[in-house]
Amino acid sequence: MLIFNKITELEGFLEGLKSKGQSIGFVPTMGALHKGHISLIEASKATCDVTVCSVFVNPTQFNDTADLAHYPRMPEADTLLLEQANCDALFLPTVSEIYPTREKQIFDFGELDKILEGKYRPGHFNGVAQVVKRFFEIVQPNRAFFGSKDFQQVKIVEALAKQMKSGAEIVSCAILREPDGLAMSSRNALLSSNERVLASLIPRLLTKAKELALSSGLLAAKEYLSKEVAKQPLMKLDYFEFCNPTNLTTITQLQPNEKVVALLAIFVGKIRLIDNIILN
Ligand code: PAJ
Repeated sequence: MLIFNKITELEGFLEGLKSKGQSIGFVPTMGALHKGHISLIEASKATCDVTVCSVFVNPTQFNDTADLAHYPRMPEADTLLLEQANCDALFLPTVSEIYPTREKQIFDFGELDKILEGKYRPGHFNGVAQVVKRFFEIVQPNRAFFGSKDFQQVKIVEALAKQMKSGAEIVSCAILREPDGLAMSSRNALLSSNERVLASLIPRLLTKAKELALSSGLLAAKEYLSKEVAKQPLMKLDYFEFCNPTNLTTITQLQPNEKVVALLAIFVGKIRLIDNIILN
């Protein structure tokens, strides 16, 4: 696997491949890689000639400085995992390489970046868009792979790709879960052993809420989930919403043949986790 720290070197490598007609798959990450990330590498390798992964803890998407400071960083372990996955190239830039100036770009995503995660993490999606735009300009991928664990992020990136007229196809990939159902996340490593056990409640509550939503309605499901969370002193719910999976507008009542996704964000101790489940 080739490792690049400099934009010009990565661009040089990619130009050579593109001139030979090779397709480029791109997997942006913030590192502390797990099997969920690797599943994106595999999805890229299955459909693209060359796979590029970036590992960059993007400061502009953290609205909480403590969260940024504590975000796990393990470039050596990440490199090893990517090598084992036969990733072709790793882009490992510094902050000044990606942001040579402090200039902030403001994006307009309408309501999409103000609801759900956007409401609780103001500026987060603007920062995601800023870095993904930068990466798309550098890599110019044919396809870019994102996990549906970050369901709203996929919507933002789709909107961004449209706005910047990037030719990249945005591919949304399934959520990989631990054996107990917890969605894999770099943040899981920050949970204490007690908190980790408690976190396994999240997928169970989501599955039960899905069942209830389908049998007794969305309100009953919402009430059930918030009551169950309230029983746990170490847990705090930021939101639990039923939404239209295309535009993420809130759904209050199930309609026949209407697709619905249930999304939540929840604190376990000090660690904030997100998850979602498709209802139908
Ligand atoms: P990060 O949290 O490192 O995630 C990188 C990619 O891995 C995202 O597309 C995310 O949805 C996906 N992913 C995470 N956990 C997953 C799981 N359990 N199953 C499947 N895919 C999973 O998301 C980011 O980084 C950043 O916001 C980024 C897009 C890189 C911009 O900085």
